[in-house]
Amino acid sequence: MSRSHYRALITGASAGLGEEFARQLARSDYSLVLVARRQQRLESLAEELRSQYGVEVTPLVADLSDPKAPAELVAQLTRRSVDIDLLINNAGAAGPDLLEGRDWPAHRAYQELMMTSCAALNHLLIPSMRERGYGRVLNVASMAGRLMRANDTTYGPAKAWMIAHSEALASTLRGTGVRVMALCPGFVRTEFHAEPNMHALRDAIPDWLWYSSETVVREGLAALEHGRVVYLSGRLYRWLDPLTQSVLTRWLLRRLSVLRSLSD
Ligand SMILES: NC(=O)c1ccc[n+]([C@@H]2O[C@H](COP(=O)([O-])OP(=O)(O)OC[C@H]3O[C@@H](n4cnc5c(N)ncnc54)[C@H](OP(=O)(O)O)[C@@H]3O)[C@@H](O)[C@H]2O)c1
Repeated sequence: MSRSHYRALITGASAGLGEEFARQLARSDYSLVLVARRQQRLESLAEELRSQYGVEVTPLVADLSDPKAPAELVAQLTRRSVDIDLLINNAGAAGPDLLEGRDWPAHRAYQELMMTSCAALNHLLIPSMRERGYGRVLNVASMAGRLMRANDTTYGPAKAWMIAHSEALASTLRGTGVRVMALCPGFVRTEFHAEPNMHALRDAIPDWLWYSSETVVREGLAALEHGRVVYLSGRLYRWLDPLTQSVLTRWLLRRLSVLRSLSD
């Protein structure tokens, strides 16, 4: 099958990594379904990709923190007789602190966006990929899912779940033609750090720790095709990872968080 017959669904396609996935896949002749909340952004990206690459692009507005959203999205695809060959679960955001924010519905909506919507889309779309004997799923996790730290009680744990979920799916689906991969970027220049509460973190990170969306997406798509199950994006992060996984580093991080809480 030529790439022009493949169709990709990208969540969080209105900005950052999702927008870059859309650009690189359109360049490779994929038909696209673009999902996010900001309709205007999706429509102007769709228009640009149609006119630049001549591919079919369908923007679908959805709020993935709404539990009904994944099933409604898939119902729209079914009505249009659209099969998805490549699913990119990319939508995500920094989350509220689990112990500080007292608004449980906001926490539940965050967990829905970061984990349940991804599980739901995988649940709804992977069986038909398996039946057709071909499918690709790329779950955008993070280096934050590789290293648990004090004061990150939501984002890092959600990304650790994303990695474990991808590994379990990949081994379950071995030999079926369906591949699943967790992509773990480090710091990437997108709108992710644009919220005022992220500025201090963004400004504290040295330039050499940042990667571009172009690199992360290009490496991620190639790794998926090479059959990787967990892929750490960026040479620097691949070098740093064994250090972060070491017993000594984990012990040091635990000690540092104890010292910090004593000095608070
Ligand atoms: N940037 C980094 O340093 C970095 C590092 C590691 C991993 N990641 C991960 O990469 C993924 C993409 O993030 P990014 O860096 O590209 O951030 P971004 O530029 O802020 O883009 C986030 C995307 O997610 C969508 N989104 C957010 N909430 C949504 C909701 N409730 N329903 C539907 N769509 C929603 C946004 O669209 P709308 O606002 O239009 O809905 C947007 O398209 C995330 O999963 C993030 O955790 C980012």
